[in-house]
Amino acid sequence: MTIREAYNDWASQYDTNENKTRDLEAFALRETLHPFTFKRVLEIGAGTGKNTSWLVEQADHITAVDFSEEMQAIARDKFAGNNNITFQQADITKPWDFVTEKYDIVTFSLVLEHIQDLDHIFAEVARSLNRGGLVYMGELHPFRQYGGSGAKFQTSEGEQRVQVYTHHISEFVQVAARHGLQVFDAKEYFDDGNTSSIPRILVLLLSKN
Ligand SMILES: C[S@@+](CC[C@H](N)C(=O)[O-])C[C@H]1O[C@@H](n2cnc3c(N)ncnc32)[C@H](O)[C@@H]1O
Repeated sequence: MTIREAYNDWASQYDTNENKTRDLEAFALRETLHPFTFKRVLEIGAGTGKNTSWLVEQADHITAVDFSEEMQAIARDKFAGNNNITFQQADITKPWDFVTEKYDIVTFSLVLEHIQDLDHIFAEVARSLNRGGLVYMGELHPFRQYGGSGAKFQTSEGEQRVQVYTHHISEFVQVAARHGLQVFDAKEYFDDGNTSSIPRILVLLLSKN
């Protein structure tokens, strides 16, 4: 099953399943970005709109991109009639033809674990951003991936694991730097705030030189 097919299958349960990673990342994004306001946000892998609902309050306009038509259909329903959100169905491993103007921030929430080639992604991010623009990444922490964790959901045939790739923290930092994106904040989020446990979410905030 491809990643897109998996999310099409997962879509109807995505918002309602118990999912600590989804919920903790929602908290992380809000905590990290609440000091900022933006004119134009590019939300990559926006899914069912978990974070779109908050981002649209912080920004004048959101472009919400996803390749799963079923995940995006749920978001389109939630925000029907909201002219401040434009939906684009696109595969971000291909050229980003959906970018026609520059953005103040590009966000990724639980997306990059599904991407093998980060170089292509960060090249497109750098091209999409205004100078001084930000990149927010909130991902399943690689420490969890080392232990075998990854995106998964239940189907009538049992557990379905979605294809994932492990990216070390150093890889994120080095690939971003190759494209003129520097880390200016890094945070880790833990279940129940227990900093003695393995962190669940890694947040990196980058800025374009
Ligand atoms: C775990 S969900 C996260 C959704 C949302 N950002 C959230 O935090 O709830 C990952 C999303 O990334 C999308 N995605 C994965 N690979 C993609 C690709 N190559 N191009 C576009 N979207 C992709 C999936 O369709 C899915 O909606």
